[in-house]
Amino acid sequence: LFSAVELAPRDPILGLNEAFNADTRPTKVNLGVGVYTNEEGKIPLLRAVREAEQARVEAALPRGYLPIEGIAAYDAAVQKLLLGDNSPLIAAGRVVTAQALGGTGALKIGADFLKRLNPAAKVAISDPSWENHRALFESAGFEVVAYPYYDAQSHGVNFEGMLAALGSYDAGTIVVLHACCHNPTGVDLSDAQWKQIVEVVKARNLVPFLDIAYQGFGDGIDADAAAVRLFAAAELNVFVSSSFSKSFSLYGERVGALSIITESKDEAARVLSQLKRVIRTNYSNPPTHGGAIVATVLGTPALRAMWEQELGEMRDRIRAMRNGLVERLKAAGVPRDFSFVNAQRGMFSYSGLSAAQVDRLREEFGIYAVSTGRICVAALNMRNIDAVANAVAQVLK
Ligand code: LMR
Repeated sequence: LFSAVELAPRDPILGLNEAFNADTRPTKVNLGVGVYTNEEGKIPLLRAVREAEQARVEAALPRGYLPIEGIAAYDAAVQKLLLGDNSPLIAAGRVVTAQALGGTGALKIGADFLKRLNPAAKVAISDPSWENHRALFESAGFEVVAYPYYDAQSHGVNFEGMLAALGSYDAGTIVVLHACCHNPTGVDLSDAQWKQIVEVVKARNLVPFLDIAYQGFGDGIDADAAAVRLFAAAELNVFVSSSFSKSFSLYGERVGALSIITESKDEAARVLSQLKRVIRTNYSNPPTHGGAIVATVLGTPALRAMWEQELGEMRDRIRAMRNGLVERLKAAGVPRDFSFVNAQRGMFSYSGLSAAQVDRLREEFGIYAVSTGRICVAALNMRNIDAVANAVAQVLK
């Protein structure tokens, strides 16, 4: 059975963790995967999460199955984070949300559901995009194309190219958009540009699929949901995959959600019924722990305030690391202007380093980054930032 099975390549992101873990150098630094680590270089257990967990342990609850679509209070809290507390769409019962296994799980059930709805549709992702987007939609059976996004010259968006590509797609094309903190580039659209994107999506009858895995890491919870809210206000059928891996530092608990905006309460009921079939045949129903913790934090005012403060602290620390890196590269005499790193948002910087330079960083200095040059700024701290800046300066010589 397995004699002809070929060895698959390592995952471009998670495969780096395997190599990093096997590296015995004590000075190694993992700037590969998108994980926030604190000043001590540790993945934090947020105080709000800890309090919610302690209360949960004390309650000693039984471990029954969750509903197929997950915890009702969780799903409701996700909708409010995405659309705001006073969303008329939520009030009208037009939003369907299902708890999912992280953002990836949400994308997967959304992709499987879309494949049933419109099997001939193409999927368009940004160039570049998160590596798993293409793989995930292809494995759901779609042809995946890429629309222009990043402009390496300006370190900004090739907006004309993006708009032209979207304007050329057939009706029904699924367009995957990063709602905030674009992964991998850290370069986002402005509000005015988002408005134009909404217009073309609407005019061409495209299907927007917004991926929001970093809500709160750009400017804040509400500001980072601006694109989702623009699409919602445009009366479009919108898919949204969200994740709490980063914002709650709950990576391994797989806490995400798929939300779908429909045209009526009746349509929402029918859509949910079909989505539940997709979930049931994938993994039956989601796990309890992470969803229960997030629902408790979001539903308890004191914990919610604590969480927002902790999220703000993570956001501020990442910004400080961006500044710190730019300053140190300058001080190390690097002629290239890296000030664009300060303008990028979220956890990542598309550094402009080549694959060969990334290889040198890993081999000579034990510093791991994605081969595209993406570095996770959220993994820098005062202990490793000098070494990283000096190593980057070396490989740029
Ligand atoms: C990343 O882009 O590094 C994260 O989203 C983790 C992952 O699953 O790839």
